[in-house]
Order: sequence, then structure tokens, then C-alpha cells
Amino acid sequence: MSILVTGGAGYVGSHCVAALHAAGEDVVVLDDLLRGHRAAVNPKIRLYAGSLNDPVYVGDMFRRERIEAVFHLASLSLVGESMKKPGRYFLNNVAGAVNLLEVMCTHGCPPIIFSSTAAVYGHPTTTPIREDALKRPTSPYGESKLMVENVLKWYDAAYGLRHVALRYFNVAGAAPGGEIGEDHRPETHLIPIVLRAAREKTPVKVFGTDYQTPDGTCVRDYIHIEDLIGAHLATLRYLRDGGASDVFNIGLGHGFSVREIIEAARRVTGADIPAEAEPRRPGDPAELVASTEKAERVLGWKPEHLTPDEIIASAWRWHRGHSEGY
Ligand SMILES: NC(=O)c1ccc[n+]([C@@H]2O[C@H](COP(=O)([O-])OP(=O)(O)OC[C@H]3O[C@@H](n4cnc5c(N)ncnc54)[C@H](O)[C@@H]3O)[C@@H](O)[C@H]2O)c1
Repeated sequence: MSILVTGGAGYVGSHCVAALHAAGEDVVVLDDLLRGHRAAVNPKIRLYAGSLNDPVYVGDMFRRERIEAVFHLASLSLVGESMKKPGRYFLNNVAGAVNLLEVMCTHGCPPIIFSSTAAVYGHPTTTPIREDALKRPTSPYGESKLMVENVLKWYDAAYGLRHVALRYFNVAGAAPGGEIGEDHRPETHLIPIVLRAAREKTPVKVFGTDYQTPDGTCVRDYIHIEDLIGAHLATLRYLRDGGASDVFNIGLGHGFSVREIIEAARRVTGADIPAEAEPRRPGDPAELVASTEKAERVLGWKPEHLTPDEIIASAWRWHRGHSEGY
């Protein structure tokens, strides 16, 4: 039996695939390679280069493989793009997920781990954010993820589809070997942007320096990719042990400001990394920090990389070795 990883050629997916393979699991990847990279997937892994928006292709793959569980990571995930092209996000992320679920439920309804996001919460009213906090996404991207979470509940009601949604906060870092890492085009995540500035000796733009936070810049919860993958493996064990459908925040449970990230990157890289203050970007909440109490209690999982320096050092190893990406 195999584990299917949709989006397995992307940043998080490629790390999931590598960890599952290292743990002795048989892994199959489905990825349309629109945003992912063939080189991010070990050639020993069976890679189906097709789209979830092609249900015939997905059905053929399920007929060939014996899928025991699904890690569903494939999606478009650029907030700004989703504001301009909402239809693209609903078609790809929601319709694509429904296509996948329809096929899964004609092939034994294997359990599914779904990559959701902190963007489902929108502007939180309390911090740290618990899973039962109000969910009011402020972008089609966040909305598409919340819609899939809701769709999953109806498939559970109709077919007994066990599912776990993991709401990731800000994922960063790379595998220790430095052979796979983050290569988004365009890159919108702070840590790779700061590391590019360190390499290219260009300034980093800091959007908003007058927030109600200790140093005035936005605070975010950064989770090391290895800890995130650990959460997926713990979730797989949970589902294999018969665990019920549920949803968990996956973050560090502690936030760092934009300035703290830049300072950590200066320590790790030894580069100056000048910072330029810019006005706030519309829609950026001051602080997004996860409550991870539920994941720790139910999944028995706990993040182990607690400092931004550890996360940034692993990302720096990858970026130094792959200045042009894959
Ligand atoms: N990286 C983060 O910080 C973060 C935070 C919260 C949630 N997430 C979620 O985690 C998942 C993985 O994120 P990532 O950073 O690795 O993204 P990514 O863009 O690197 O990877 C996504 C992969 O999915 C593939 N894909 C997209 N639509 C597809 C489709 N219809 N059919 C087949 N393949 C398709 C892309 O080609 C890409 O390889 C996404 O669902 C994202 O929304 C990521």
C-alpha cells in the first residue's frame, strides 16, 4: 500500500515525500509541476505529472496504485494572486479537492491529511489562536482552504471519510542535508526574501513599523519544516490508530517580529541586510500566533526547533547551495 502526496513536488510536499521515503513508506506523488519542481522529488518515487483538475487522470492513477492514505498539499497559495483571480483559486483549490475526494471515495475512502492554513482565521480577535476561534478569511486563498475543510466534513458524514486538517502557520527552513528547500516563484515568504537580500546585498522592505507589537513590526509564528513534517507523521500514526476527523494548528506557539527575523538572519549569515521601512500592507494583521496545545495533547507532537536562528540556518544552507533554486 502507498501514501499519495498531492503537491509532492512543491516546498512542503517534497519534504513530506523525503521523510516518508526515509521512514520506509511507499510513496506516490501527484503534481502538475506548475509551481513545483521535478528535481525536488527523488527519481525513485513514482511521480504522476498531472492535475487534480483532470478527474480522469486522477482516476487512472488510483486504479494503478493501492493508496492507503492521502497527504493533500496541492494548491495555489499566493494571497495577492488570489485577490486578483479568485476564480482560479476556487477552481484549483476547491474543485481540485472535490475531484480528488470523489475519486478517493470510489477507491475505499482512504484517510486524508489536508494542508490548511492560518489564513482561515483572518484577523484574529484573541492570541494565541485556538482552533475554535472565529474563522473569517480575508482572501480567496484563505476562503478556499476553509471551504475544503467544510467539504471534508460532508464527505465524512456521507462516506465516513476520516480527515485531519492541519492549519499551518509560517513554514520555513529546509531539510538538514540542504538538497531540497524552498523555491517559490515568485517568493512571498519573509525568510527566503531576507536570505536573498543577504546574498544579493540588497535592502529588505519592512511593511509597517507602527503596529501594536513590541517593536512595531508584524509578529508571525514560524514553524521549522522538519517540525511540520513531524506533525504530518504524527497525524498519519493517529489516523492509522483509528483517530477521528479533527483539525489542528501547526505552529511554534510563539511569534517573532519582522525585525527579530532580520536580526536573526544577520547573525546567521554575517551579512548587514539593510532594512527599509515601508507603509503597512492592507490586510496584514499585527500578530498571528498559534495555540499548539491541541496538537500537542491529541497528536503527541511538539516542535523541537525553537529559535529563528535554527530555522534560518537550515534555510541558509539550502539557499547558499541553490542560489538559482532547482
Ligand atoms: N508554505 C507555507 O508557509 C504554507 C503555510 C500555510 C499553508 N500552506 C499550504 O501547504 C501546501 C503546500 O505549500 P507549499 O509552500 O509547499 O506550496 P508549493 O506551491 O511549493 O507546492 C504546491 C504544489 O502543488 C502543485 N499543485 C497546485 N495545484 C495543483 C493541481 N491542481 N494539481 C496537481 N498539483 C497541483 C504545485 O505544482 C506545487 O508543486 C499548500 O496547500 C499551501 O496552501 C503552506
